[in-house]
Amino acid sequence: MHLSLTITAALACGFPVLATVPPWRFPFSNSTTSSRMLSTLSTDEVMRSTELGIISTCTSSVPTATSLSLNQQLLLAETTSDRINLLRDDSQFVFDFNRSQNESENNGEFVVANREAFPALIGTGAGMAVGRIGPCGLHKFHVHRRSAELQLVVQGRLVTEMVSGNNADGTRRVIRNEIGPYQMTPFYQGSVHTQFNPDCTNVTFVSSFASEDFGTEYMFDQLFAFSDDVIGASFGRMLAAEDVDILRREIPASVAFGVKQCLQQCDPERIW
Ligand SMILES: *[C@@H]1O[C@H](CO)[C@@H](O)[C@H](O)[C@H]1NC(C)=O
Ligand SMILES: *[C@@H]1O[C@H](CO)[C@@H](O)[C@H](O)[C@H]1NC(C)=O
Ligand SMILES: *[C@@H]1O[C@H](CO)[C@@H](O)[C@H](O)[C@H]1NC(C)=O
Ligand SMILES: *[C@@H]1O[C@H](CO)[C@@H](O)[C@H](O)[C@H]1NC(C)=O
Repeated sequence: MHLSLTITAALACGFPVLATVPPWRFPFSNSTTSSRMLSTLSTDEVMRSTELGIISTCTSSVPTATSLSLNQQLLLAETTSDRINLLRDDSQFVFDFNRSQNESENNGEFVVANREAFPALIGTGAGMAVGRIGPCGLHKFHVHRRSAELQLVVQGRLVTEMVSGNNADGTRRVIRNEIGPYQMTPFYQGSVHTQFNPDCTNVTFVSSFASEDFGTEYMFDQLFAFSDDVIGASFGRMLAAEDVDILRREIPASVAFGVKQCLQQCDPERIW
């Protein structure tokens, strides 16, 4: 209802034909009254009234196009040039990946340019992330459901693993590679993958996506969102339902502190 009213109001404000309807056509001379009446009418009645030119003005109590967020307006723009002109300032077309993060328990950080963070992406069908993974850090198992990822290492090295779907014989292929500066690897849309830094220095990378809203979902977090008895049962005899919560609490943040052999060399204090 709210959205319908908004669209109706936008139509009433936007169509010059309505504005030129002679005053005698309006049964309500007082716009406060008419907007109050409007809010009590059904959507159909409002639409019909609009066609008849009954709604005279865009009053403040009626939602207007400007009550939509910038991103909503960008998503609804009728033409590309309308959309681009909603971004009045040239600087709105620049995204700065050099921004600090607030995830202290993470051994790394990701700055994501999706359409929420960077409205100028709306209409491009593309997104990007720039990340750092600390010494020995592991970016735990995850998927991007709405896009493939092309990952390019800028500095340092990453060991990447990706599992494809099930083969006909029930086996799974794990594709493992080491990528260094200016090397790239694809992770297919929806494929489970992980990356870790095998060195004692930071690694930085750039990932591009064919979606403005690629999303990242962590496999263990998703799995452990289910109820304890179902998870326990799925692990067969290995895990009692009462132990599930202990395991759930141990799941690290997005970049875990590391692969054991690497920690031995770089940060022995963190070895568990
Ligand atoms: C419009 O109608 C409202 C409610 O009936 C009333 O309080 C207000 O004084 C009216 N305004 C004018 C300009 O007549
Ligand atoms: C990134 O931001 C920090 C803090 O604002 C600044 O000190 C640094 O120079 C910036 N780096 C680049 C490459 O602009
Ligand atoms: C970072 O997170 C902590 C704890 O959640 C919070 O107290 C702090 O205000 C945050 N800092 C910034 C800059 O957002
Ligand atoms: C990695 O980068 C972080 C953030 O810029 C920095 O605090 C840390 O000292 C770096 N670590 C190494 C080993 O260079």
